[in-house]
Amino acid sequence: MNIRPRRLRYGANLRKMVRETRMDASALIYPMFVMDGENTVEEIPTMPGQYRWTVDRMNEKIKHLLDCGVTSVMLFGIPEHKDEVGSGAYDENGIVQRAVRKVKEEYPEMYVITDVCMCEYTSHGHCGLLCGHEVDSDSTLELLAKAALSHGKAGADMVAPSDMMDGRVAAIRAMLDENGFINTPIMSYAVKYASAFYGPFRDAAGSAPAFGDRKSYQMDYHNSREGIKEALLDVEEGADIIMVKPAMSYLDMVAKVKAEVNVPVASYSVSGEYAMIKAGAQLGYIEEEKIVCETAAAAFRAGCDIYLTYFAEEIADYIKRGLIG
Ligand code: PBG
Repeated sequence: MNIRPRRLRYGANLRKMVRETRMDASALIYPMFVMDGENTVEEIPTMPGQYRWTVDRMNEKIKHLLDCGVTSVMLFGIPEHKDEVGSGAYDENGIVQRAVRKVKEEYPEMYVITDVCMCEYTSHGHCGLLCGHEVDSDSTLELLAKAALSHGKAGADMVAPSDMMDGRVAAIRAMLDENGFINTPIMSYAVKYASAFYGPFRDAAGSAPAFGDRKSYQMDYHNSREGIKEALLDVEEGADIIMVKPAMSYLDMVAKVKAEVNVPVASYSVSGEYAMIKAGAQLGYIEEEKIVCETAAAAFRAGCDIYLTYFAEEIADYIKRGLIG
């Protein structure tokens, strides 16, 4: 026997030398919920260990992230008032706009990305404007572009449209460019599936649709080639980064998209993935630390360049301690 695969598995030093996947905290993005109100930090019941922060308190978390070596956040806004047309999404004094200004004022070194979507701001909870009972792409584009511009004006470093309306990347790119934000990148949630894994997020943001579901705009999870179509289309429209979402059950799509596009690929480990790990660990059925390491390594092994995760601080720590990476 002259080929013995086990030869390269003896000893931690050698295993690390031949490791194929290397991780760095600079690839992590932490998703964070900010809400209207004052002096409040509220735990999200379905996401133990995750909180909703008012703007006056959020920098406690930002400081902690930076101390851990996590230098990017994605902000989600939870407004007090919602209406039919989601006006809070593009209000220059809206919750996300104020939050961006607050972070950038005190911690300019934190890279701030904003989620661009209507669902947290509409009374009906859908990601676009309604036309009857249908969600209408074309009339929504103008509002999404206005939202992205208001984020840019507030100081956001990058915008990330998550609504899945057709044509949104081109509309946002045009609006940003016309207003001088030519260097604000767009990370498109291009390959976003209609997923039950978003359940805890919708509890956190109060954004569950009031009627129906999101299947007429988010993708059917039986489909793979359609995801490539979405990714290629968004690159053509000017997306700088392509995201696949959720992560764990969609790593085949990370690998496929990576092979098709020549821009960085992001993978978003969503709220339901976080909740499952937390719940399993709390019951004593699984070991949280090891499971988090394994799922993070799997996403990078599949090919993502960027990993969005509620475990960002923990993963940065595991990398530092040499448990992974
Ligand atoms: C907004 C949006 C959602 C998530 C990110 N942006 C929810 C949804 O599409 O219903 C989900 C994130 C998570 O579950 O962690 N459209």
